[in-house]
Amino acid sequence: MTPRPSTTPAVPQRKLTTRRISFGYAETALARHYVSGDPVMSAVVSVLSALFPEGEDFFVRSVRAYRDRITDPELRRQVAGFIGQEAMHGREHRRFNDRLAALGYPTRAIDRTLGWGFKASERLPGRARRLAVTAALEHYTATLAETLLEDERARAILTVGEIRNLFLWHALEESEHKAVAFDVFQAVSGNDRVRRWVMNATTVGFVAVVVSWTTVSLLTDPATWRHPLRVLRSLAALRENPWVTPEVWRRLRDYNRRDFHPDDWDATELTARWREVLFGADGALAGRVATTTATA
Ligand SMILES: [Fe+2]
Ligand SMILES: [Fe+2]
Repeated sequence: MTPRPSTTPAVPQRKLTTRRISFGYAETALARHYVSGDPVMSAVVSVLSALFPEGEDFFVRSVRAYRDRITDPELRRQVAGFIGQEAMHGREHRRFNDRLAALGYPTRAIDRTLGWGFKASERLPGRARRLAVTAALEHYTATLAETLLEDERARAILTVGEIRNLFLWHALEESEHKAVAFDVFQAVSGNDRVRRWVMNATTVGFVAVVVSWTTVSLLTDPATWRHPLRVLRSLAALRENPWVTPEVWRRLRDYNRRDFHPDDWDATELTARWREVLFGADGALAGRVATTTATA
């Protein structure tokens, strides 16, 4: 995927569907290293999943704080769709995180710490900066999500079918709503210097949080101490990881381009294809969606 230059300042029409769907893991005999038997990737995926519920609640609050200032009816509809989708993601990742906690991952500690940190930050002034943090992290989730949807190697890593389903559903919707927080920020602030400064600070914070909690996960895993060489091999294998590539890094850094817009990385065909694969007439998850709410 290559970026195309931004041309249209207006918010394009975008239909966002909230799909109420549940995933279950109770009867699945889940191993601690459920991601391809790989200790480091299992820890990383668990940490990311543990960050989602509080992270997405924060995104919703950051966007909702500006709802009254959004005049464009199309953007207002998209905000409603964004909130609906993120609420469902939080609910399903909480269920998955409970399962991960039973396997020994520190998902509850991550959830509590993050929730405390976000709420503490919201007692301080800086509403526009929080929205900019949300837009920056939405660029991260969209980039990671579109890598999963585009790269077969990334999907092959998620060896447990139900976990792959959870992440594919989440990835599709992250790609569908990737521009909403950004467009709200542009509509209510548009301060390019703040947007890019916040992205740099968010990158440092996000990497620090993921690396430190992954380290905690690995250090509290008895297998790390029994088979330290396996962990070292797993760390070395990150060089081959489809999410750790110069291309992914280039996409992440593209956000700092002055005229950047999330839609510059056009995912129209990608999302259409995955909507069909997952939720089309013969879609793999179509029969499991309890209800859908479309915004346009
Ligand atoms: Fe999400
Ligand atoms: Fe999102």
